[in-house]
Amino acid sequence: MVHVIDRDNKHLYGDELEQHYRLRHRIYVDERRWEQLRRPDGREVDQFDTEEAVYLLDLDHGRVIGGTRLVPTLKPHLMADVFPFLANVEGIQRGADIVEWTRIFVVPDRRGPGSKTLHTVLAAMLEYCLRQDYRAITVVMETWWLPRFLELGWEVRPLGLPADIDGMNCVGTMISVTEEAWRRTLAFKGIQSPVIEVPKAPIVPTRRRLYA
Ligand code: COA
Repeated sequence: MVHVIDRDNKHLYGDELEQHYRLRHRIYVDERRWEQLRRPDGREVDQFDTEEAVYLLDLDHGRVIGGTRLVPTLKPHLMADVFPFLANVEGIQRGADIVEWTRIFVVPDRRGPGSKTLHTVLAAMLEYCLRQDYRAITVVMETWWLPRFLELGWEVRPLGLPADIDGMNCVGTMISVTEEAWRRTLAFKGIQSPVIEVPKAPIVPTRRRLYA
């Protein structure tokens, strides 16, 4: 099951969050060679790991096997602050009902066609966004994701032209949050809903907290 961790309940997930920062370093720096993220303490933490960040972590008996991060688009975020040229056609999309998605990963031994972990995390993200009344997700992504998302029946709108970033072909896109996309993501791997674990502490909807 995927656990939603935000500033209100993160004190209950100290070990899992720490595992996830270290996994991010192993995966993005050691495996994918994103050298600019290398840190001497072996924890991949960037300027968007703030109090505003929400982590969705897939836990198997306390072990983090996959995860991702969401950040409000009304606050500093990757597309607006680092890669705004990826939205050079439609412009940066900001709103109380739009979140930015970054840092999706699955641990190596849970990857591949025989595993449901990736699609469990993707479905959890849509499930969480539906519960929060988010209408869209923006993402800076490598273009190889595009056919995979379209195969899941997701509505994906490019915000700009693809560009090369450190040898990776990347594009800024906006994904519609729909019940249809959530259901088709579950169905793709025969995953039972719900995929989000009842939180250890109540989640205050981010929109309500930010704009109350
Ligand atoms: N470049 C090109 N294609 C890639 C890729 C990469 N770096 N990583 C995965 N893919 C492809 C796979 O080959 C597969 O293609 P297929 O559908 O033609 O078989 C497809 O993406 C999905 O693979 P799947 O086996 O369903 O997913 P997975 O369990 O491997 O999970 C990731 C996908 C990306 C989450 C996982 O490989 C991972 O954690 N990678 C490292 C972290 C990362 O790169 N995250 C994305 C950027 S934030």
